[in-house]
Amino acid sequence: MELDLEGRNILVTGAAKGIGRGIALEAVSRGANIALHYQSSEKEALETAKLIEESGVKTVLVTGDLASIEDVQNMKKSIERDLGTVDDIVNNAGWTQYKSFFKYEPGEWKREVEVCFYGVLHLAHTFMPDMMENKRGKFINIIGDSARTGDRNLIISGAARSGTISFLKSLAQEVGRNNIQCNTVSLGLIDQGQGYDSVMMEKLMKQYPLKRLGKVDDVTGIILFLLSSYSDWVTGQVFSVNGGHSMLG
Ligand SMILES: NC(=O)c1ccc[n+]([C@@H]2O[C@H](COP(=O)([O-])OP(=O)(O)OC[C@H]3O[C@@H](n4cnc5c(N)ncnc54)[C@H](OP(=O)(O)O)[C@@H]3O)[C@@H](O)[C@H]2O)c1
Repeated sequence: MELDLEGRNILVTGAAKGIGRGIALEAVSRGANIALHYQSSEKEALETAKLIEESGVKTVLVTGDLASIEDVQNMKKSIERDLGTVDDIVNNAGWTQYKSFFKYEPGEWKREVEVCFYGVLHLAHTFMPDMMENKRGKFINIIGDSARTGDRNLIISGAARSGTISFLKSLAQEVGRNNIQCNTVSLGLIDQGQGYDSVMMEKLMKQYPLKRLGKVDDVTGIILFLLSSYSDWVTGQVFSVNGGHSMLG
């Protein structure tokens, strides 16, 4: 067994920048071709695609709103035309609002649910039939730990993503016979230059047994493992990558 993704066509959503970009670049370094999805960050997506192309693997840029099944279906058409069938998916895209429930206007929660919950269903419904036919595929969904622990300021995205855990466990049961693994990676706070002041940073550190925030590289390792054949007997699981912030069984 090797951590080898040679020739795999991997769709990474929200990959123009941040964690998604890190995942795409790391997968490329293992030989994967990338369907690089973005929604609004076109400039960053073009930069990331250029970097990928320089390394000699194939990439296709696709854009779309994951809340729209039509957009996701159109993404599939573009990818098939320019890259081929999608073998594996890392859904890294997400949209969250940070505030108390009572600060929401009625209905203002809908968008978060549409992106963070329905978006996952749209991806699975659109791309998984091909994986099932090929009898091989990995579906990895990235969420925040708030979905497992609760967080009064991430109340809607946390609830929506908690739903995706259940969805992927059930889906893992359905598609296991087709040799498809569905897993969830649940993140603590990843430092991406958010610019916290020292008081805030100290307050945050206290919550992390490993006494630091995460780095993009802390996330890419487990994603690569889950994309590789090392994880062929791992499905329906949730992995927290969170510096020990929560220690759920
Ligand atoms: N950073 C953290 O500390 C942390 C902690 C816990 C969980 N997470 C989760 O980890 C993932 C990556 O985090 P991040 O901080 O690197 O990036 P992020 O800014 O939270 O989101 C990633 C991407 O999602 C895309 N996106 C937003 N709404 C979308 C929609 N309706 N349809 C399609 N794409 C959409 C955006 O793409 P465009 O920019 O192209 O519009 C964005 O770049 C996210 O799901 C995030 O919630 C992050």
